[in-house]
Amino acid sequence: MRVLSVKNYDELSKAAARYMAAQLTLKPDSVIGLATGSTPVGMYKELIRMNQSGEIDFSEVISVNLDEYKGLAGDHPQSYRYFMNDNLFKHVNIFADNTFLPDGQIEDDLQACQDYDDVIDCVGPIDMQLLGIGHNGHIGFNEPADAFTTGTQCITLDERTRQANARFFDGDMSQVPAKAYTMGIGSIMKAKKILLVVTGAEKAEILDKALNGPVTPSVPASILQLHPDVMVIADEAALGI
Ligand code: F6R
Repeated sequence: MRVLSVKNYDELSKAAARYMAAQLTLKPDSVIGLATGSTPVGMYKELIRMNQSGEIDFSEVISVNLDEYKGLAGDHPQSYRYFMNDNLFKHVNIFADNTFLPDGQIEDDLQACQDYDDVIDCVGPIDMQLLGIGHNGHIGFNEPADAFTTGTQCITLDERTRQANARFFDGDMSQVPAKAYTMGIGSIMKAKKILLVVTGAEKAEILDKALNGPVTPSVPASILQLHPDVMVIADEAALGI
């Protein structure tokens, strides 16, 4: 596991975008696993700039996202499909048909999970998977549990995760869906490369546990210690410097 320490969020965004840009340059038809949340927003802005200035090309890229809220349609402003369209896809030359997220509108959990596993099997292996980390150590929406997940799961979101995400729902917890579909940890670990981006002092404690603590499903991100090719890009605040 390599850890790149950068000064602040702006540097993190640029360094992470450069890392992904290198992947796309080396393999223009890369399958990239993408994440939502606040952390990658600056990186996505930088990727948009690089795409619009001709430095990188998304025309052959396939993307598979980590997760989606159960019950939200893609045109709901808080759905992760909407987020990805708004923050990346509609600003770069990726083909909409090459972008995949779990379908939050499928009621039947088993069906939704099977469908997304089929997508991952069909387009995979993932060349580079982008991850953020939750305050409780979750990756994707794989919350602390007794065992690591394998394939796509329907997860009941942890209260802390719902509180953290209420900021996107005008602070109204009652609007935050209770469940989400998430790529499983087994699928994340099958990615050839993983890029974990972390910012801010409030992530310092959990990042330290993930990188240096025991590998345990009670800190899902700790499993990354067992992956052969992980790059962590974190700012000084997140590294407790
Ligand atoms: C998002 C995702 C989550 C976030 C994590 C950190 O698709 O899967 O694991 O990466 O909750 O979110 P932020 O970046 O908002 O702190």
